[in-house]
Amino acid sequence: MACGNLLDLNDCSVEEWIGLINLANDIYVNPRDYIHRCDGRVLATLFYEPSTRTQMSFQAAMLRLGGQIIGFDNPVNSSVSKGETLMDTMQIVSNYADIMVIRHPQEGAARAASLYSTSPVINAGDGGHLHPTQTLTDLVTLSMTKGTLSGLHIGVCGDLKYGRTVHSLLKAMSRFPGNRFTFISTPELALPAYCKNLLNAAGCPFEEVPSIEDCIGDLELLYMTRIQAERFSSKEAYEKQRGVFILTEEKMKAARSNLAVLHPLPRVDEIEAAVDRDPRALYFTQAKLGMYGRMALILRMLEDDIVIHSERDYRLTENSCPNPHCITHLERKLPHNVCKGQDGEDICLYCETKY
Ligand code: NCD
Repeated sequence: MACGNLLDLNDCSVEEWIGLINLANDIYVNPRDYIHRCDGRVLATLFYEPSTRTQMSFQAAMLRLGGQIIGFDNPVNSSVSKGETLMDTMQIVSNYADIMVIRHPQEGAARAASLYSTSPVINAGDGGHLHPTQTLTDLVTLSMTKGTLSGLHIGVCGDLKYGRTVHSLLKAMSRFPGNRFTFISTPELALPAYCKNLLNAAGCPFEEVPSIEDCIGDLELLYMTRIQAERFSSKEAYEKQRGVFILTEEKMKAARSNLAVLHPLPRVDEIEAAVDRDPRALYFTQAKLGMYGRMALILRMLEDDIVIHSERDYRLTENSCPNPHCITHLERKLPHNVCKGQDGEDICLYCETKY
């Protein structure tokens, strides 16, 4: 595994990201040049959680590169329903595939999976933790539509607590000069402390406001997100948060002409359908461009042409991870490993929660 696993986009350098974006652009312009680049290679998609765009765009990406695909999109139809562990599934399926894409509801599942896989693993979303290839999609979209990844005032709206796309996005955008953030959420769905610490450590300014109207006139990018119903402890708790932030045509009137509205999708009710007609609404273009980003990633990983520093120094601990959503609480045989966080504190190797 010369190239490592793609578990967190920050395991690659900014130069690697730019290389992926440029390659995605070239594939977009010259798709026929790439139709046999993955002949004879197999990609497995192991989706333990629902997906439309991520799974299909990975599959379409591999097919358009000439490769083959295997996998499941409902663990009920696999041996998971017979009680097979993630560790065993990974050991088996990685014999069949050259590259593995996994989505799982538990935080840290992708890193856990990578420890038992003999093929490189791509994290396609691990609970409320990270979603690096959505961020790759976002970077490709911003580069190809706005022509820059720097100097942007970025508004991020909705479920900032459980929205894994948000966590990955701000990790990435804080590495480009001149970006600043305005976060729009309710106090219950505010950004986790570890994300704020990360922005502070990167010297990236941010503020929190209670409504879209408070900031829309000053933004170059508005990143809308869905309230993550499936991650709430009760239906009542979700209902209280539902429909608080809705982007409307009326609100768009106060926005700049150069605003880009992105959304990882699926949308529930947070963007009025009428906004789709606005040329600043780029979320459908974003979904389309994601496939080219994933084609670039698969190609680079299979050709060992990318450096991904996914390995961590870790040690075993007697204690359990304090995060109830961590994969270690579901996969009981997983060793409880900790590694060092940004400030030298012990964090869970899998979900990065502070011990
Ligand atoms: C996102 C996800 O799964 O985190 N969807 C996607 O992959 N495009 C966003 C979401 O589900 O809200």
